[in-house]
Amino acid sequence: MKARLEHLRAPATTAFGEAVSFDEPMARHTLYKIGGPADVFVHATRLGLLRSAVRFAAEHALALHVIGHGSNLLVPDDGVRGLVVRAALTTARVEGTALTAGAGVALPQAAALAAKHALSGLEFAVGIPGTVGGALVMNAGCHGREIGELVERVDVVARDGEVRTLVRDECRFAYRTSALREQGVAVAGATLRLAPDDGAAIEQRMGEHRAWRADTQPHGRPNAGCVFKNPPGDAAGRLIDKAGCKGLGVGGAEVSTVHANFIINRDGATYADVTRLIETVRERVAAQFGIRLELELIILGADTEGTAH
Ligand code: EPU
Repeated sequence: MKARLEHLRAPATTAFGEAVSFDEPMARHTLYKIGGPADVFVHATRLGLLRSAVRFAAEHALALHVIGHGSNLLVPDDGVRGLVVRAALTTARVEGTALTAGAGVALPQAAALAAKHALSGLEFAVGIPGTVGGALVMNAGCHGREIGELVERVDVVARDGEVRTLVRDECRFAYRTSALREQGVAVAGATLRLAPDDGAAIEQRMGEHRAWRADTQPHGRPNAGCVFKNPPGDAAGRLIDKAGCKGLGVGGAEVSTVHANFIINRDGATYADVTRLIETVRERVAAQFGIRLELELIILGADTEGTAH
């Protein structure tokens, strides 16, 4: 079968070589293992490829979607229109108390590198399955810490394909969001400012974080982390639990019995299964508590374009 954007095959191959594919199944690129084909998909392992992808999307009027490990992503069964670029820049280094990492570096890897250099600040990230780029866009956090607090600068690829450096204030970090998302630009990497500390103490805190997560969050079945943001002053997990939703299922999707703010892909769940379950949970929580839960999970392609990771 011919790709939807067959006419772009020649220019895309010229621009990206083997890094481009057409009709790429997004189920391969989300931890949920859910999602239909992306029209054009670029695996950007170098800054040059990331810049070319941003420029290519602009030149051909394609919606641009940037992803990382797909750890917080839900992709529709009929896929994503436009160009999806996976920001897979994976170099990382430490100079003094600064850790500089590409957008595609895994958070646990960044945390381990910091620990190796006896630098504190990233312990909270040791069990988060996302990338540095995704964590910045979403301002990922855990145990009262957020990655935004550590940022010294973020390098982004702007719509014109040029690299710009933003300082922390320009990123406007807030609870599970930032200006990096609104701008529809691609994060290339960042420099985080850490604090010297005792290596053994850092390792111990990381161990505690891992153990806490293993006890309180589901594992072993595909999921995309917390589905809903916590409403002010409360916890979505507590409300969903109290509304009696634990174990509720639609098709292959199920509200986790371990933590109610997780929906797991129990058995071949589709986008339709997950979204129907999301609506059921929302309705029950709204009926019982009068609170409308807001999604934390990002639905790729729900806005016309975006930076999700
Ligand atoms: N709770 C229940 N039932 C449940 C789950 C939780 O009653 O099924 C209660 C807990 O007992 C606790 C409260 O709800 O009193 C809060 O639960 P928890 O401590 O697990 O934290 P959370 O608010 O649900 C947030 C983040 C997590 C992060 C943890 C740890 C959000 C939406 N979630 O969860 O982040 O790991 O704190 O700091 O902000 C994510 O962003 O994907 C994520 C998992």
